[in-house]
Amino acid sequence: MRVTGTGHAGLRIDAPAGSILCDPWVNPAYFASWFPFPDNSGLDWEALGQVDYLYVSHLHRDHFDPDHLRRFISKRASVLLPEYPTSELEDALRDLGFNSIIKTRTNEPVALDGGLTIMIQALTSPTDGPIGDSSLWVEYDGVRLLNQNDARPADLSEFAKLGHVHAHMLQFSGAIWYPMVYELPHAAKTAFGKQKRERQLDRTMRYIDDLKASWVFPIAGPPCFLDDELFEFNDLGDDEGNIFPDQQAFLEHYRGLGRDNGVILLPGTVAEITANDCRVEHPVPDVAEFFAGKEEYLRAYAERQRPVIEAAKASWAHPEVDVLGELKRRVEPLLEQSIYMAKGVGGPVRLDLLDQDGVEVVESIVVDFPAGEVRRYADEKCRYRFKTRRALVEHLLHTGEVDWVNSLFLSCRFSAARIGQYNEFIYSFFKCLSQERLQYAEGWYDEHEKAVEAEDIELDGWLVQRRCPHLKADLSRFGVVEGETLTCQLHGWKFDLRTGRCLTSVGKHLRARRVESTAGGSEGNVRGDAEGRADQP
Ligand code: FES
Repeated sequence: MRVTGTGHAGLRIDAPAGSILCDPWVNPAYFASWFPFPDNSGLDWEALGQVDYLYVSHLHRDHFDPDHLRRFISKRASVLLPEYPTSELEDALRDLGFNSIIKTRTNEPVALDGGLTIMIQALTSPTDGPIGDSSLWVEYDGVRLLNQNDARPADLSEFAKLGHVHAHMLQFSGAIWYPMVYELPHAAKTAFGKQKRERQLDRTMRYIDDLKASWVFPIAGPPCFLDDELFEFNDLGDDEGNIFPDQQAFLEHYRGLGRDNGVILLPGTVAEITANDCRVEHPVPDVAEFFAGKEEYLRAYAERQRPVIEAAKASWAHPEVDVLGELKRRVEPLLEQSIYMAKGVGGPVRLDLLDQDGVEVVESIVVDFPAGEVRRYADEKCRYRFKTRRALVEHLLHTGEVDWVNSLFLSCRFSAARIGQYNEFIYSFFKCLSQERLQYAEGWYDEHEKAVEAEDIELDGWLVQRRCPHLKADLSRFGVVEGETLTCQLHGWKFDLRTGRCLTSVGKHLRARRVESTAGGSEGNVRGDAEGRADQP
């Protein structure tokens, strides 16, 4: 089986039985903030696009690039479609002219004509991608590959039980706005960033150790930031709080742990994988040297992309849009129908809109979740505040964007402040600005609330509910107890075992009590208010 790197989470798989192109992304995403790193625009896309199968893991714009798909990818390719609860991905691909669709069922292998076997696992919580993220498993002639991309399943057992995996591709770097956009002192931001960087690497190691593949390919990031305003987000090796370590940084960390089966996939790298071997050819003479020259490389890349960024910026402003009126029209009906998310947010969220220079606040709006209305800010206390240029919100409203996470928030072109903990419901709501998405997310939370209640396990002297209140990770695998704190290592959420209080996010509680107290019957779980400090999108 041959794997060719096509940049970021992109790869092309070639076997005598057929070829699959995964997540081709070339054009900038999220308000021209994210670019593929390294630059993949010079690949022979005419040739790469002639494939038998296309796999788009999910609708995040660094995985789904409609312009590129339209222009370069053969419409004769059959789409390998994950089983998502909404039809958005299928509709988007059909709109682009892909009409041969193979609808998979999650965790069910499919034998394709010609001899390839594939299996797609779809994750469907409101916090997985834009309502869904997925991983692709492929087998040909006894060689198995898992392209986990940036999906975060609770475990990899569904893949492991299909036999030893030879090539494991997975995310290792950051892909979020935290903590950079927060209005925090520099030292605090660095400390949070450092924590986050460490946690990402720990999580990656956990997946690697779960699957024990022969070769490990760090993929799906990091992006690079080429706009002058965002350039500082690139990891140039001088900021321990940077959450975007690159492939080389990962490999060095990995080697430091005594592992020698890591393989970097640059755009154009070709890896020939057999059951016993992995032969790699890179498009550069020396990979370490390439990464050593990263800053210079990025500066030159930024110069090449400057006209693209300028043109994008010029298209955002639509001053004729009545932002308050339009938000009322679009958001109030959704607030009225939202039970779980509105309750989870629990208060007003303030949106400060800035002028073109990003300096003066020109308009202040409140999305009042308890009251179910959108109105002007009235000098009240708001626990959550976002600041961004008015032009970006004008653009979101002008284009009818239903997912502000997959546009505004991932752009990092905003700042945020809050009192208290991270609140996942805010982001879930702002990625569900359509009836279809809102209904799905509300239904999911309803089901989820019931599901996490079911079973208890014993963990280091505590009886705790088996499923993490966040996204149902099995705490018998992901739960780590230190003192009276339990950390779920899937996303790093912490819980105070004495009270059940979540120390990471509001509105989440863990059922827990000391094992001894079961006999004595004196110390039941207390479901306290969630108050805390950390932030873990
Ligand atoms: S499932 Fe996300 S922290 Fe546990």
